[in-house]
Formats: sequence, structure tokens, C-alpha cells
Amino acid sequence: MDVVKIKGGIPLSGTVQIEGSKNASLPIFAATLLTDEPCIINNVPDLSDVRYMTEILEHLGAEIEQLGKNSWKIVAKNITSHAPYEIVRKMRASICLLGPLIARLRKAKISLPGGCVIGHRPIDLHLKGLSKLNCDIEISKGYIIADGKNIRGRDLFLGGRHGSTVTGTANLVMAATLTPGVTQIESASCEPEIIDLCNFLKAMGADIEGIGAHHLKITGVDKLHGCQYDVISDRIEAGSMIIAGIITRGNLCIKGANLHHLRAFVDKLEEAGINITCPENGQIIVDGTNINRNPVDIITLPYPGFPTDLQAQMCSLLSLTPGLSIITERIYPNRFMHVPELVRMGADISIEGNSAIINGKEKLSGSPVMASDLRASFALILAGLASEGETWVQRIYHIDRGYEKIDQKLNSLGANIVRMSDKEMPPEVLY
Ligand code: EPU
Repeated sequence: MDVVKIKGGIPLSGTVQIEGSKNASLPIFAATLLTDEPCIINNVPDLSDVRYMTEILEHLGAEIEQLGKNSWKIVAKNITSHAPYEIVRKMRASICLLGPLIARLRKAKISLPGGCVIGHRPIDLHLKGLSKLNCDIEISKGYIIADGKNIRGRDLFLGGRHGSTVTGTANLVMAATLTPGVTQIESASCEPEIIDLCNFLKAMGADIEGIGAHHLKITGVDKLHGCQYDVISDRIEAGSMIIAGIITRGNLCIKGANLHHLRAFVDKLEEAGINITCPENGQIIVDGTNINRNPVDIITLPYPGFPTDLQAQMCSLLSLTPGLSIITERIYPNRFMHVPELVRMGADISIEGNSAIINGKEKLSGSPVMASDLRASFALILAGLASEGETWVQRIYHIDRGYEKIDQKLNSLGANIVRMSDKEMPPEVLY
């Protein structure tokens, strides 16, 4: 397993390009199963999660060709409906295959995804929504077995105790595109990734109204066709890079990002005394030099609220922002695995229920830490970049799921990050 060694204390500077969105690419790849015609998808990030998705699609019978580093051709001419555990367990987002398989084949057998380190992640709303469309759903031996031969459009409510569901909305919208009649989804997610999926489906010939709102109306069509599509940029990578500029007191130009997708995040940065400028479309300037940052309170919420996928990174920033900050996690109440690791670096954070109470400090000290998931990995790298001394982040494979060549990117901005096998770690820094 790889680890990264970070020599902290270097302000980052320069220009960095943001890749295509992981969480938009994955459901869009799943949506290619809705047609037997070729789909060409561009601006796809080069990530292990994307490669897992192509493996699953290939297993289901799709022909896949990588046309360039960020461009894929998918032809799902003859497909089967069975996604086994060996493949699905690698990535939770495989659940997005359920909607397209039911829509195209009127049946699906998909392994339940299993546990997740960021907390309990049920799929009851996906299944409830599909049942409302008249699908028969059975859970047996760890599999979801769906029979959609009588599928019909209908009005349904998709909200749950934590609000709307992103991949649940994706599944329902995809299922409804080829379902006879009209499906209206109340309390649909309006995340930019869902908007992107809907735009892709429209480019395939789907009839969807209300894109970007919590109420979606989908009129089923007989057939969808192939298309060519460019995925939106990754708002979470952009937010993570903005924090990298601020936490290292650096100066960054971030290209290819869409600030409109980060309003709640930018609003909190402004409250913390940090100014982000956008001199031209798709370009963000972060100047972290000479700022006295203020502590802030944050609550994560579904879009357009503050994103849970930037919570861990923000926790690192606030650990280094003198004063008392509180982060309340409303999407995944236990998503605080990065906290004990930040505490190892000297952060003063306590967890009370679903809140992290952060007593921000002037300094953290580099130390060996363990990454537990994708966003926690980035949070630890951020803390390492801003700490005194060396930080060793182990189990860094998590980060390759969602950030393309992040060590190389950060090094191009002046960071000192070395990736190596954990076997090369000196014994005194072994965790
Ligand atoms: N929920 C239910 N029942 C369901 C579905 C969800 O109770 O049937 C709950 C969840 O437990 C959670 C909340 O609803 O408390 C929101 O979950 P959601 O379904 O929206 O999450 P997701 O679709 O599984 C996507 C992203 C996550 C991101 C969340 C929230 C993808 C592939 N994943 O997950 O991304 O955190 O939305 O925005 O799009 C990441 O990229 O690191 C990541 C975890």
C-alpha cells in the first residue's frame, strides 16, 4: 500500500486545473446502459472509481474504449442484469446501475453494497421509489432482485430523514426515462451532479422537466439514443484546492472550476475573512497570505447547503484558525474519522453528537496518520501541508478514488510530497 510523506510549511503558489466531476461521471456512465447506441463521454477524471465503473459495465456486457486520458466510448448493445458482489463491493456508487438496468431490461440483480466507513448508508429510499413505480423488489442473500415488467410512471416523494438522496434521485430519474407514463419526483436532489446527469439524459432524448429543482417531471419515452457529452468540473476538488491555498497561506489560480456550485462554501469562507475572487469565468483566485482568519460555525446540508464532502477539509482549516468553531454534520452524523488523526497532529477537537467542536490553534505538528476515506485523506494532506515537520499519511489509496494525481498536482504548486510504498517507511514513523 502507498503512503505519502509531506514536508509541511510551504505556501502553495501557481495555477492548477480542476478535473471533471467524479460524482457526475459515475451515474452518467451508468446511464449509458439506457441505450444500445454509442455514448462518448469527455472530461471524465482519471480515477480508480471511474475504472471500477468501467469494469462493472464491461462485466454487464458493455464495450468500453478509452479514447484519451479523460474520454471514454461506451456501447451497451447486449447487456445482462446481474452485478455480483465481487464487483459492486469495490464502490458504493455501483448502486446507480439499478435504475438503468430496470429501465432497459425490466429486471436487475445487484449486490447490496455493504458497509461504509463514513456511516450507515441505507438505500431504502431508492427501493421505495422503485416500488412506487410498480417494480417488485426482493432482498435475498445479499442481493436486490428487481422485477420491473409492470413498471409505470407515478408521483412519488423521495425525501428521507436527512433530506433528499443524490444517487437515489439518479436511480429514479434514470428508471423513469424509459418507463411508460409520467413520473413526478418530489424532494428530488438538486446537486449539480444530478443536473449534469439530467442534461446527459436529455442529450440522449429523455423528456425531463424541472431540472435543478426539487420537483422533477419525467415523461417516459420508448427509446434513448447515443450522444456525446462533457462532464461538469468537480466542485469538491475545486473546494479542496481553495482550502489548500488558504491553509498554506499561499496564492493560487484555480482553473476550470464553477464557483456557482460552491456558493455556501464561499459564503463561509467570506465569513471567516477569506476573499475569493473570480476575475473571469472558470478562474478562481485564492490569496491566503496575510489573512487573520475568523472561526466559523458550519452545518452540512443537501445542495445548495454546505457540502458534506468538504466538511473534513474544512475541519483541517478550522483546526488552524484560532478561536472556537463548530461543524455540525447533518448528512452523515458520524463522518468524523479524520478528527482523531488531526488530534494526533495537535488539533484540539472534541466530538459532541454530530458536531465537532474545534478550538483552533496557531500550529499543528506533522506526524504519522491514517487515512480512512476519500475526503478524510485530503483533510490529512491539507493538515500536513500546513504543519511543522513531516506528516506521513498511510492508506493513501483512498485518495486515488477521487482526486486525479493529487500528489503531482500539489507538487506542481510547490508542495513537497513523496509517494512511496509503506514498506519503505522508516520504522520510527510506523503508525
Ligand atoms: N439516505 C437514506 N436512505 C437512502 C439514501 C440515502 O436514509 O435510501 C440518507 C443517507 O444515509 C445520508 C443522506 O440520505 O444520510 C444522503 O445520502 P445520499 O443518498 O444523498 O448519498 P449518496 O448518493 O450515497 C452521494 C455522493 C457522496 C456524497 C453524498 C451527499 C456519489 C457517488 N456519492 O452519495 O459522495 O457525500 O451524495 O452529498 O455521488 C464522496 O464523493 O466522497 C462521497 C461520499
